[in-house]
Amino acid sequence: MARVEGKVALITGGASGLGLADAKALAREGARVVIADLNVEKGEAAAEEIGKAAVFMRLDVSSEDDWKRAINDIRSAFGQLDVLVNNAGVVILSTPEDCTLEEFKFANAVMSEGVFLGCKYALPLLKEGKGGSIVNMSSTASHVGYPIFFAYTAAKGAVRSMTKSIAAHCQASGYPVRCNSVHAGAIETPMVQTAQGRLGEKPIDIPTSGVLPPDSLGAPSDVANLVLYLASDESRFITGAEFVVDNGLLSRPAG
Ligand SMILES: NC(=O)c1ccc[n+]([C@@H]2O[C@H](COP(=O)([O-])OP(=O)(O)OC[C@H]3O[C@@H](n4cnc5c(N)ncnc54)[C@H](O)[C@@H]3O)[C@@H](O)[C@H]2O)c1
Repeated sequence: MARVEGKVALITGGASGLGLADAKALAREGARVVIADLNVEKGEAAAEEIGKAAVFMRLDVSSEDDWKRAINDIRSAFGQLDVLVNNAGVVILSTPEDCTLEEFKFANAVMSEGVFLGCKYALPLLKEGKGGSIVNMSSTASHVGYPIFFAYTAAKGAVRSMTKSIAAHCQASGYPVRCNSVHAGAIETPMVQTAQGRLGEKPIDIPTSGVLPPDSLGAPSDVANLVLYLASDESRFITGAEFVVDNGLLSRPAG
């Protein structure tokens, strides 16, 4: 049997980068996937590329009304939800001194409030199943200071701590739902290309096998492989945990 056979998975920000890699991995291993994104054109193309296991749904994760509608639509279409990957994200380049309140609120509306709303509205359906799993995309930015990603780090820190509260709440309430966070280092996606000002450059070649050198970016599949594990029942004894996927970045001495 495939690793997530029979499960229904909702992946926010699934039209691009890590979310798209998650959607492909989950579909390959037997799940039906709902790709939810603001970007309709890329989302529809992603669902078409994956094939009949995937559908696209327009969702702005910062909108409470959108979440209510999305979960209602999933209940009507599938009658179940087993996996929620809160992955949608945006990056804003500004330090604590030049970050505007508007930028700070925007980053947190998408990545902090978006995760809160996703968990809040998906939980009623997730808890009706037998093995629900929420995977929240945080970042190594929740562990160390990145001055230029100030608003981003604030949001990702909130995701890290929210994850543990949600996990504890589910256990205390007797819900069969786990909740874990993933903390990626730099992975080759459109977001990172933009942040690094490398727009227009050819993506680098990341070897598909073997250990990567310390200065390498990771590939989206390096994160998707972990998300697949956390989505599957193979990780049933794991909740409230944080998983760093950074090729040793956080554990290396400075310099
Ligand atoms: N790429 C990395 O190195 C890296 C590292 C750590 C964490 N992350 C996190 O992983 C997640 C995915 O990042 P990525 O690198 O794949 O970025 P990406 O830009 O390739 O994809 C982000 C997706 O989120 C969607 N999105 C943005 N705002 C949205 C909203 N309000 N509602 C719904 N969808 C929305 C975008 O349309 C896009 O499809 C983000 O949360 C990011 O912070 C990425």
